[in-house]
Amino acid sequence: MAILKIRVDDDPILRKESRPVEEINKRIEVLAKDMIDTLHKADGVGLAAVQVGVLRRMIVVETEPGKPIVMINPEILESSGEQDGPEGCLSVPGKRGCVKRPNYVKVKALGLDGKTHEYEGTELFARCVFHETDHLNGILYTDKAWKMIDPDEDEQ
Ligand code: NI
Repeated sequence: MAILKIRVDDDPILRKESRPVEEINKRIEVLAKDMIDTLHKADGVGLAAVQVGVLRRMIVVETEPGKPIVMINPEILESSGEQDGPEGCLSVPGKRGCVKRPNYVKVKALGLDGKTHEYEGTELFARCVFHETDHLNGILYTDKAWKMIDPDEDEQ
């Protein structure tokens, strides 16, 4: 278990496309655990492997606290509807922006058990899945934001 360094801002790795995970081995298991620890430490809801410097198609989504979902080689099966709201990213610290996303997603992915699982959800879960799978293709939410939010205006 370890807290990994999160790549931020204009780190070029964030713009690269991640490759599929070919084998779920000990290394991938350790990476998944470390990603979950890192996500908890950073108090986030999602993290892609590329954000900790590993160009593999793997994300962790934890929109339900205490129930992290590790998705390996995730593939969007269905999306529908629309939502518009604020979004942030652990790799773009101190910023938030408004992004339109589909309101519903169905996604399939391998789990650490090596089996294919399907997940579906709306709102934050859907937003998070789209945001994290974008990371696997080198896309940041700032590319899609129709407005960035002034941090002074939005302090909680
Ligand atoms: Ni992000």
